[in-house]
Amino acid sequence: MAFIKLATTDDIKTGKMERFDAGQTRILICNVEGEFFAVDDNCTHEDASLYLGALHGDVVKCSLHGGKFNVRTGEPVEEPACVGLRTYAIELRDGDIYVDIDG
Ligand code: FES
Repeated sequence: MAFIKLATTDDIKTGKMERFDAGQTRILICNVEGEFFAVDDNCTHEDASLYLGALHGDVVKCSLHGGKFNVRTGEPVEEPACVGLRTYAIELRDGDIYVDIDG
């Protein structure tokens, strides 16, 4: 495990998502009604940034072809997305968001 601080809870408003660089990886952190979830920023379909898409509830929609993923589980929920996103454990510590970049 390698938890690193990537953000504070104030950085990501409810219903929004932000992306962060963690070494070679870009991680998307989503605020779903006050719960935070971290997934790979790259769509598994053709490697587009999911940050450029839209978050609706706990589902992120890719801007390129409309594939959708559940950010709680990483599971694909609408084609053409068919391979799940990598998810990362999160810990909240005094308003800071730590992400286990080892996943
Ligand atoms: S690149 Fe995301 S659905 Fe095609």
